Amino acid sequence: MRQRVAILGATGSIGSQALDIIAQNPERFEVVALACGRRSDAADAVAAAHPAATLLVGGDSSELERLVLSSAPDLVLVATTGLVALPATIAALDSGAAVAIANKETIVAGGELVMAGARRAAQAAKSTPLERLRPVDSEHSALWQCLNGEDPAGVERLWLTASGGPFRTWEAERISAALPAEALKHPTWSMGAKITIDSASLVNKGLEAIEAQRLYGVPMERVGILVHPESVVHALVTFSDGSTIAQLASADMRGPIGYALGYPQRMERLIPPVDLAARGALTFDAPDLARFPGLAIALAAGRSGVRATSALIAADDVAVSRFLAGECRFGAIPVILEATVAALEGGATPTSVEALLELDAEARAYATALPIPEVLRA
Ligand SMILES: NC(=O)c1ccc[n+]([C@@H]2O[C@H](COP(=O)([O-])OP(=O)(O)OC[C@H]3O[C@@H](n4cnc5c(N)ncnc54)[C@H](OP(=O)(O)O)[C@@H]3O)[C@@H](O)[C@H]2O)c1
Repeated sequence: MRQRVAILGATGSIGSQALDIIAQNPERFEVVALACGRRSDAADAVAAAHPAATLLVGGDSSELERLVLSSAPDLVLVATTGLVALPATIAALDSGAAVAIANKETIVAGGELVMAGARRAAQAAKSTPLERLRPVDSEHSALWQCLNGEDPAGVERLWLTASGGPFRTWEAERISAALPAEALKHPTWSMGAKITIDSASLVNKGLEAIEAQRLYGVPMERVGILVHPESVVHALVTFSDGSTIAQLASADMRGPIGYALGYPQRMERLIPPVDLAARGALTFDAPDLARFPGLAIALAAGRSGVRATSALIAADDVAVSRFLAGECRFGAIPVILEATVAALEGGATPTSVEALLELDAEARAYATALPIPEVLRA
C-alpha cells in the first residue's frame, strides 16, 4: 500500500529534494498535503504537480496543525524553518503518523515536549521513538544507521562530523571581520542561506550536538565533534567494547531524506555510493573552540538546559538575519548568542508549547534590540 505523505516546507531545499525522491517512487508514496510560506513560482509548480494534494500557503501554527490532522497522512516531513511547525509535529505524532524531521529548531527548542510525543507515539504503535520521529539531518540519520540493532546500554560516545566550513583554516581576526559573501561559500554542502552561515560559524554543529543529546538521550559530555573537511563520514558511534562504527555517504541530502521516508526499507539507487579509492585520504581533527566561539556557546547551552537552548536557537536566527542583512560582521553572531543566552537562561523551564513560543519571542526581541559593538558593525 502507498504511504500517504504530507510535506511542510515543500518548496524549500529539503522539501523539494523529498518531492523528487517521491516522484521517482510513485508506487511507494502518495502526496496528500503540502505547505509552503508564500505564493511563488515554486509553490505553483508544486501545486500543479500534485493536484490531488491540499496546499496551504503561509499558514500559521494552528493552520499547519489542522492541515496535518485533516489530511490523515502516514508520514509527515517537517522541512519548514523556525518553530511554526512545532504544534503540527506533536499533533502528527499523537495522531499516529510517523514524522521525518529535518527542522532542527523543533528538536532544539521543543526539547522534552517533542521527545515525549515521540515516546507516546512509540508506545501506542509498539515501535521505537526513532521510528516515529525520524531524523533527516545527515549526522543524526548517520547516528541512527550506526545504532540500528545496538543495545543503547553499550553506547559510549556519539560523534558528529563537521566540514569546518569556509573559515576552517582562517585566523580568528579574519573570521570575525568576515562578510556574508565569504560565509556563504560552503566547501562541500549545498543548502539554504541560514544553515550555510550556521555551518561557517560551527553553531550548526552545536545545534546538532543538542539535537543528538535529545534524540538519543545522552548527556552533552558524551557527544563529540570531529572536523572532517571531506564530508564523507557523517557520524560515528563508539561502543563500550572499544569498537567504533561510522556511516559514510556522499554529501547529498537525498540520502538521509530517502532513508527517513523509506525506513525500514532502503531506496534503490538514491545517491551514488562513495568511491573510497578514488576519494583518497580522509582526515579528522578536534574543533578549535577559540576560533569558533559560537560552537562553545552552543555546547554550553546544551549543558545548561531547555531555556538556554531555546534562547540560543532564537538568538541565532536573529543574529544570522542581521548578518545577512549587512548590519554586522561575522564576529557579531557569537556576541549576540552569548548575551541572549545569558539574559534568558535563568527561570522556569517551559512545559507547554505556548510557554516555549513565549520564550522564543522574548529571545528574538532581546537579540534584535542588542546593539552591535562599533568594531563589529559592517
Ligand atoms: N537544507 C539542508 O540541506 C538541511 C540539512 C539539514 C537540516 N536542515 C533543516 O531543515 C529545515 C529546512 O531547511 P531548508 O534548507 O530546506 O530551508 P529552506 O530552503 O529555507 O525552506 C524552508 C521551507 O519552509 C517553508 N515555509 C516557510 N514558512 C512557512 C509556513 N508558515 N508554512 C509552511 N511552510 C513554510 C518555505 O516556503 P517558501 O519557500 O514559500 O518561503 C520553504 O518551503 C531547517 O530547519 C534546516 O535547519 C536543512
